[in-house]
Amino acid sequence: MKLGICGTGQISEQLMRNAAKIKDIQVVSVMHREMEKAKRFAHETNIPFAFDSMKDFLNSDIDTVYVGLPNSLHFEVAEACIRANKHVLVEKPFTSNLNELNQLIRLANQHKVLLLEVNRVVYLPNIKWIKQNLSFLGPLKQAEFSYCKRSRKYNDYENGLRPNVFTPEYSGGALMDLGVYGLHLACELFGMPKTLTYRCEKLETGVDAEGILTLDYGEWRVLIHQSKVTNGDVNVKIQGEQAVMAFDYAPSILKQGKLMIESEIKESDVHEEENFYYFLKKACEIIDTNDRQEVQRLMQKSIQIMTLLDEARAQCGIVFSQDMEVHS
Ligand SMILES: NC(=O)c1ccc[n+]([C@@H]2O[C@H](COP(=O)([O-])OP(=O)(O)OC[C@H]3O[C@@H](n4cnc5c(N)ncnc54)[C@H](OP(=O)(O)O)[C@@H]3O)[C@@H](O)[C@H]2O)c1
Repeated sequence: MKLGICGTGQISEQLMRNAAKIKDIQVVSVMHREMEKAKRFAHETNIPFAFDSMKDFLNSDIDTVYVGLPNSLHFEVAEACIRANKHVLVEKPFTSNLNELNQLIRLANQHKVLLLEVNRVVYLPNIKWIKQNLSFLGPLKQAEFSYCKRSRKYNDYENGLRPNVFTPEYSGGALMDLGVYGLHLACELFGMPKTLTYRCEKLETGVDAEGILTLDYGEWRVLIHQSKVTNGDVNVKIQGEQAVMAFDYAPSILKQGKLMIESEIKESDVHEEENFYYFLKKACEIIDTNDRQEVQRLMQKSIQIMTLLDEARAQCGIVFSQDMEVHS
């Protein structure tokens, strides 16, 4: 894979750290709207070419683009990449809403390129472990996925600034930033719920600071709790009548878990790599082998997730600037 990177934030650094461990990924170019930042990032991470123009970046010798930009920009940048016949890996959440995602899917099909959401959950080794051990739990009763971590950017917000992640212009908020991981996990393990309820506390900007999402699967429920303004639980628990499965890690990390069947405790293996590594390695394989079937499986999950995000926002009146856009 010959990869180009859009964005030079912390998340692009994480990408570079993990791409360096995968021999089939060659990072060729980086793009930032300011040349100085593009050059600095390229220099620090050994990327051969730096650009401040999207046109020149897309003309560089790359076949795939990673989009590590604020949420509201995912659509327009992914669209430009697809039109230039590049495969695209788009950071989570895929787009601002389902309408945008549907537009991208159509365009990607027309251009015969592969389009993937960066879903750090699906290829974690412990996902397999959970699936293999779910039957020990007996009838499921409740699952709780919590990711409550006060953001450093909340201090800026309290000081009168408007960090992207707390604004509707950039499609921010707790649900889009952290809740999406719980949805990745729930949709991978249990598929689409029968109904969803979202209750949240909103900031003055109109996005959610924290909230609880309830996914109803009929006989049982998944509660997904996210907060960007408090330091609370960061863990995953799946409770059945016969046993409990627990991870003291975020839903997107699941580094090590345990299964507790009465007094017996069975531990999972420990992930040695960062969560991004497992996704990136598999994404590279999918693109190099043109595995359209797997892309389709992942896309079904992404559509479920985006449908649930739209519904949750609608219940709480969270409206993004991108919701007003009409894309042709
Ligand atoms: N940060 C994380 O730990 C993390 C983890 C997982 C996923 N993600 C996902 O990664 C994406 C980026 O998140 P982030 O927190 O890294 O965002 P960010 O720091 O606000 O921005 C990331 C990059 O986008 C650039 N950028 C910001 N506003 C822009 C604009 N209006 N036009 C063009 N470029 C712009 C930034 O440049 P400047 O530095 O010049 O502003 C930076 O290079 C999001 O979709 C997020 O959900 C982030």
